[in-house]
Amino acid sequence: MQQQDLFGNTIYHEEEQNLKKSAVGEKIKLPEELLVSSKSLSDFNKEINTCLKCPLGHTRTNFVFGIGNPAADVMFIGEAPGADEDAQGEPFVGRAGQLLNKILSAVELKREEVYICNILKCRPPNNRDPESTEMETCTPYLYRQIELIKPKFIICLGRIAGQWLMQTNNTLTSLRGKFHDFRGTKLMVTYHPAALLRNPNWKYPAWEDMKMFRKAYDEMKAGE
Ligand code: URA
Repeated sequence: MQQQDLFGNTIYHEEEQNLKKSAVGEKIKLPEELLVSSKSLSDFNKEINTCLKCPLGHTRTNFVFGIGNPAADVMFIGEAPGADEDAQGEPFVGRAGQLLNKILSAVELKREEVYICNILKCRPPNNRDPESTEMETCTPYLYRQIELIKPKFIICLGRIAGQWLMQTNNTLTSLRGKFHDFRGTKLMVTYHPAALLRNPNWKYPAWEDMKMFRKAYDEMKAGE
């Protein structure tokens, strides 16, 4: 694994500080039922990419469905499209996306062999945090993507995606560094690449997370 490519020579020991308070409330209701019936990911994209269920549909340039292998073992889930993603219709194509690509190659995975998407498919204005109502509205789409892809691992990028899927207000520090169960699938929460760009001190624990993931991935592959 190419730790040096990703993290350079410096080893970071500082712990994460000043986590923003959770944006999600105590009680989040996620719709259990799926609203759609498409059998393939591409049909599903066609079915939902004109969505206007929440106000973000009216301000987006592009609906950002997701990209990658429709039968991926690993699904990366971020928060919401930013300006670059909104412009191009693809998740994680801006600066954070470039770092995500490096993280992927550090664990010897190709962008095309994993699946990458977000909780929200449309960009919140001015890159504000997603609102709970927007996430509630959009989450059935994500659930359907997970159901169609059937990944062996879900990696949540950042606090917001992790808290939302795990339905908790626990801090990123307490969520990361271990596997959780998400409806029978191993789920890991790690730092958002944009957070790593802002605070390189977090690259060391992020690398620890990715090594933990890679070990479990190799074990899964060996047992196949
Ligand atoms: N940040 C995200 O959470 N998702 C993207 O697609 C881009 C930046």
